[in-house]
Amino acid sequence: MSTCSSLLERMINTVPSEVILSDLILPIPFTARDYLLSINQDGTLNLQVTADVLAPALNNNRVVTLHWNDRESTSCASSACSVSSIQTTQDTSLRNGFTLQSYKFSVNVNATISFSNFWFTVDEDGNGTNITTQNNGGMNYPVDDFIVNVPAYTCGILFGSEPYIARITTAVRIDPSASAPINVTVEASFQNQTTFIPILSTVQASLSTSPLISPIPELYVYYAALVPGDTGDVCAYDAFEFSATIGKEVHTGPRLIGPCTVRAFGINSCFECDTCFP
Ligand SMILES: *[C@@H]1O[C@H](CO)[C@@H](O)[C@H](O)[C@H]1NC(C)=O
Ligand SMILES: *[C@@H]1O[C@H](CO)[C@@H](O)[C@H](O)[C@H]1NC(C)=O
Ligand SMILES: *[C@@H]1O[C@H](CO)[C@@H](O)[C@H](O)[C@H]1NC(C)=O
Ligand SMILES: *[C@@H]1O[C@H](CO)[C@@H](O)[C@H](O)[C@H]1NC(C)=O
Ligand SMILES: *[C@@H]1O[C@H](CO)[C@@H](O)[C@H](O)[C@H]1NC(C)=O
Repeated sequence: MSTCSSLLERMINTVPSEVILSDLILPIPFTARDYLLSINQDGTLNLQVTADVLAPALNNNRVVTLHWNDRESTSCASSACSVSSIQTTQDTSLRNGFTLQSYKFSVNVNATISFSNFWFTVDEDGNGTNITTQNNGGMNYPVDDFIVNVPAYTCGILFGSEPYIARITTAVRIDPSASAPINVTVEASFQNQTTFIPILSTVQASLSTSPLISPIPELYVYYAALVPGDTGDVCAYDAFEFSATIGKEVHTGPRLIGPCTVRAFGINSCFECDTCFP
């Protein structure tokens, strides 16, 4: 240890004396990640998101709450417009003097009422004496419910027979005022199966309306595509990104992380594909 710290110190001290070091760059203490809006089989919308809180020490008293506004208002018409986290995890192994606590949220609402934005409150002691609001710098976190994930019919082939296709389905909200046709696309990026490094090459596919009927056909239409994989590389997908364009207006949809990556997100492996490929 002492040899190591001496070597590191000598390395750091090779910075020429005229160099002026900047102030410490501190990690952002509160961030939101893994946001995903999906349509459930019962026709409700699901919003999922995880809040990360960095602090010097673990705090098991802390209560983080998710709040939201309805799609047509700056308030919540239904009485239930806030929920507690469904799961808390912690990582005390960070070596930078911080502890990470993660609060996962998942909430289902009536798809007509839907969401326009969300924010969080953090009750540091859990007794209401020290509450802060985390609202993305005052703007809240925006929700675009135009194009959403359909988990029931979205999956990637993990093992099995060629050609290792991924089936992807997304739901597009019906906009009665739209005159231009809707163009729904997905961009899939790959990772090298030897090095597990993401490859910047992508395939782009256009989605067409799916024969499967959405549970709320008056609100959402399903679009689907089969994305071919590399026949030599089982499960080479890294990420899928969706967008829908009406005229010149582009709506960004879900970002899913492939089932064979270190941190799969939003897409099932083919173990659950029997129902995914009906
Ligand atoms: C969802 O909300 C709309 C508008 O308030 C209402 O007409 C509809 O009945 C609700 N659907 C369900 C399943 O509660
Ligand atoms: C709230 O909790 C903090 C930390 O445990 C404690 O110091 C404080 O006295 C509590 N306040 C009330 C009103 O209970
Ligand atoms: C509220 O909690 C924050 C975060 O732990 C802490 O820095 C601050 O001192 C607390 N404020 C009060 C009034 O206890
Ligand atoms: C849809 O978008 C894709 C990718 O941007 C493009 O190649 C295709 O021509 C578009 N189709 C229409 C009908 O605009
Ligand atoms: C994957 O990485 C290996 C080792 O660097 C390399 O030999 C191979 O060509 C790569 N495959 C692709 C498809 O880039």
